[in-house]
Order: sequence, then C-alpha cells, then structure tokens
Amino acid sequence: MNVFITREIPQIAKQLLEKNNITVKVFRPKRNISESELIKYSKNADAIISLLTEKFDQKTIDQLSKCKIIANYAVGFNNIDIQYAKSKGIIVTNTPDVLTDATAEIAVSLVLACARRIPEGERMMREEKFIGWEPNLLKGIQLTGKTFGIIGAGRIGQATAKRMKGFGCKIIYYNKSKKVDFEKEVNAQKVSLNSLLKKSDIISVHVPLNPSTNNLIDNTKLDLLKENAIIVNTARGEIIDEKYLIKMLKSKKIFSAGFDVYENEPKINKDLLKLNNVVLLPHIGSATIETRDEMAKLAAKNIVNVLFGKKPLTPVN
Ligand code: DGY
Repeated sequence: MNVFITREIPQIAKQLLEKNNITVKVFRPKRNISESELIKYSKNADAIISLLTEKFDQKTIDQLSKCKIIANYAVGFNNIDIQYAKSKGIIVTNTPDVLTDATAEIAVSLVLACARRIPEGERMMREEKFIGWEPNLLKGIQLTGKTFGIIGAGRIGQATAKRMKGFGCKIIYYNKSKKVDFEKEVNAQKVSLNSLLKKSDIISVHVPLNPSTNNLIDNTKLDLLKENAIIVNTARGEIIDEKYLIKMLKSKKIFSAGFDVYENEPKINKDLLKLNNVVLLPHIGSATIETRDEMAKLAAKNIVNVLFGKKPLTPVN
C-alpha cells in the first residue's frame, strides 16, 4: 500500500504510516504542487495526505485509480469536492479539535494587534520613529466591556469567545443551532447575523467555507458595522467581500481589520499593503509546533484506519 503526501509535513506522519508497512512518497519541493504534478503522483496512490492548497475537483478525483482516502491536513475541506469523492467511494477526513486552541490563539492575537495597534507600534520602532512618550501616541481600543461577536460558534469560535471573555468582553454569537452549554459557560447570547454585525464592537469569523457562506459578509452586511468596529478573519477569505472591506478601511468607516486568510490566497490585494489599519498574517492559524504534529498524526491515523478496514476517526463525507 502506498500513500502520497503532497508536501512535507511533520515526520511523525511518515513514521506512523511506515510502522504499518505503508510506503510513503512525499512531494519534496518547497512550493505548492501543480495540478499536473498532483494528478501524476496521486494517480496510483491508495491514500493521499493533502493540504488546503490542493484542489480535488471532479477532474482530479476522476484520475485517482485506487484511492480510498484523502486525508486533508486542515480542518477546512473546501478544497475537496467531498460529495463527488464519496460517489467514487473515497473517504475524506480533516483534522478537527487538534487545531482549535492554536487557531483561537491567532484570532485573539489579531484582535489584540488590531485593538492596540501593535504592528503600527512595531513598525515605528523598527523605523526609529519613536521620539518619546506622547499622550496621543497610537491610542487604541480597550477590550474591557466591549461586545465580542462570533460568526460561527463551532469549536474554534467557542474557544476564541472563551478567551475573549477573559478580557471582560460580552459575548454574542451567530450560529444555525443554539449552543446551550456555551451560552451557560460564557453567558453568551444567540443573535441574528444582522444584529451581531450591528451590535458588536469586535467580530471574529469562524464559519467554514461552503456555498452558503461564500460572501456571507457582503457589502450590505459590512455596511451594518459600527463606526469603531474591528473585524478579524481566521476562517477563509471568501467569506467576506474583501474589496468592499478594503474600501471601508480606506475611508476609516471601521477601526481596523485583522486577516489571516485572503480572498485570492496566496495573492494579496495590494491595497491592503498600503493600509495602516490592518493586521496581515500569512494563514498561520494552526501553525504551532504542537498542533502541526497533532494534525500530522491525525491524518496518518485516519489513513491507517481506512487502509486496514477500520472506520476513519474524523470523516467529513
Ligand atoms: C485549516 O485547518 O482549515 C486552517 O485554515 C489551516 O490550518
């Protein structure tokens, strides 16, 4: 049996697979694999570990002659046509839970960086422009007592809200279903999306990307934001109308925005680079040593289970 891994990930995955007598082939170049390379190397694999940067659409899935499982090295799986994979008998798995805390930490980091203008201060120091303490220097927004709204109260959304509660924020959330335990734990209130956008001082996006959430926060929704609002996105860029958000940031209609994900990733809208009231990260939500190891382990375990006739641990289709 052989597994193809589309990019180098922590060794633990390879070790775990080889311990089970599975042959592992890794795409070694330090760049994303191209579509033709992906097809070439995945074609005869019994299983694949893929990244969120690889598209498994109908065309690519049709080329997989004996693949039983695509183990996505991410919690999001919008890069894979999971229904089509299912119709071809291919199981798709993701890596939930193990990256919850790491991603929540990045969401909170973006909130703090936006609210307290940390990158602006850092740039000032590096450029040797700090000429002494000033009463009005880089005044930000204090988190105490602010309303923190989460769009999507799944694992990561809830973990982020719990952390924000520690800063003295009032929590509101938008989610399809009511989250009773979460409500009790942080005294959160479920509201409509419009109400959340109107009431929140700080908003954090945590819904998965799918046809119903693509452009969920469009221009009409963005227009509902408070004058001094902060919005951060650690989910997927396509959920927010990025162009319109940039327009609002340019005209200072809101206080600031934090991005870990982008509409046309890895391409960045050059206008973002000119703005001071944004914080820009290169999609590092789950990038901790501990979490990336756990993601590798989970992806490998899913493969071992499926190839040996057992149930996958974290299937999505
Ligand atoms: C995911 O897992 O979907 C994140 O975006 C990357 O870790």
